[in-house]
Amino acid sequence: MRLSENFLWGAAISNVQAEGGYLEDGKCLDVYDTLEVLPEIGTEPVASSTDVASDHYHRYKEDIANMKEMGFKACRFSIVWSRIHPGGDDFKVNEKGMAYYEDMIDTMLEAGIEPVCSLVHFDMPDLLYRKYNGFWDRRVVDFYADHVAAVAKRFAGKVKYWITYNEINLVTWSHLVSGADRPEGVSMPVFHERLLHHTQLAHAKAVLAIKEADPEALVGGMIAQQAVYPYSSRPADIYAGDFAKKFRNDLYNDVMTGGDYPDYYKSFLRNQGLDPELPAEDREIISSAAAKLDYLAFSYYASGVVKAPEGAESMSTAELEYKIAFESEKCSNSYLTANEWGWQIDPMGLRIVLKDMHDRYHKPLFIVENGIGMDDKLVDGKVYDDGRIDYYIKHIDALEKAVVDDGVDLMGYLAWSPFDFLSSHKEVRKRYGFVYVNRTKDDLLDLARIPKKSFYWYKKVIASCGEDLANDIDY
Ligand code: BG6
Repeated sequence: MRLSENFLWGAAISNVQAEGGYLEDGKCLDVYDTLEVLPEIGTEPVASSTDVASDHYHRYKEDIANMKEMGFKACRFSIVWSRIHPGGDDFKVNEKGMAYYEDMIDTMLEAGIEPVCSLVHFDMPDLLYRKYNGFWDRRVVDFYADHVAAVAKRFAGKVKYWITYNEINLVTWSHLVSGADRPEGVSMPVFHERLLHHTQLAHAKAVLAIKEADPEALVGGMIAQQAVYPYSSRPADIYAGDFAKKFRNDLYNDVMTGGDYPDYYKSFLRNQGLDPELPAEDREIISSAAAKLDYLAFSYYASGVVKAPEGAESMSTAELEYKIAFESEKCSNSYLTANEWGWQIDPMGLRIVLKDMHDRYHKPLFIVENGIGMDDKLVDGKVYDDGRIDYYIKHIDALEKAVVDDGVDLMGYLAWSPFDFLSSHKEVRKRYGFVYVNRTKDDLLDLARIPKKSFYWYKKVIASCGEDLANDIDY
């Protein structure tokens, strides 16, 4: 057998994108509900309302039954903050929200599925965004820490695997991640450093709160991982590729495992005329959490290419690093194909990041999102998603090589996603699930759950513990 019997096979959900029930049982508006998104490609508006989404709020038992049928060992889900603390800043727990997730966790456990609980996944009470500008304001760190402590206490002993913060390296991408917009007159380096500092502090406080509630729990940090390649062998491109990789990815893992800003980030701050030191009291919290961190989790969908700016060779370090960090031109890789949304398919990139993280951190790794967005079509009650199966075959083969041939310590593989739900841009047409959810952008139809061809293929993969990847399903 290529992978261990304890390998955590399954898939992951972002509950705010799946649940709907957006104002039910005391939940308040969430940043995901109010977010105004532009389409990812093209100009047609694509966003759907979040009020029903995939109705996971009412159909989670059916969704978990489907996961059980596929043989899942684990399911990553997220606890929506605005269900648990709808007051945002009043420190009051909404019992109905807690009870809802408790039943979801119990249902998974009864189905033999290990719950992997994420604490903030593209969600936050909208009030914390409007009143405080999210994690830009340090007080939000305390609201978050209080929220995590309440959840960790409640589910201690039931949830063994925790993820503190989804894609913590995307903090400046959107207020969907951090609850913050850049205030007028604030430079990008200042905005970035402050969000990094506050979210790392939030992550650290979460690690400590979970460990205090349950010393047996295993806690991981999580980033959106991307293999980063230089555009060419021009030395400035190599420099840019290296700096971008560190700035986009390593920085966050370095802080979560090392407990302080790494040297390259301190020099970056100094070159931008900023103070590179964390306050001693915060560094203490961040470093004690680093000592307790059990594993590093990440999502992986695609790789990226970085090109040095024009005239890079004669620029000051400050200008060059600023441009690479915040003004990088998006380039495509001519060796790779892409899905309709331009995400470049790169299974070897997954092996590259696994090897790199293993060598750099010597910690167990956990792939907690990997998949492909496709415009699946329901034809005569069936969905032939061979493109998805092909994507998974190549990525699972790559991770198996990383484990077996390269010695990477990998805890599990969670695909994205068990069933269809809204994308981060609230798009219904961009589907990822093993189970089709019958709805369109504006018409909820019957929201029926229909297993796609990949459902039966993944079931076979899990049953063979990753040995049998062939696409030979009679569907
Ligand atoms: C990850 C997020 O970035 O990618 C998910 O954690 C998201 O929440 C997923 O849905 C796929 O991205 P998208 O934009 O296609 O939904």
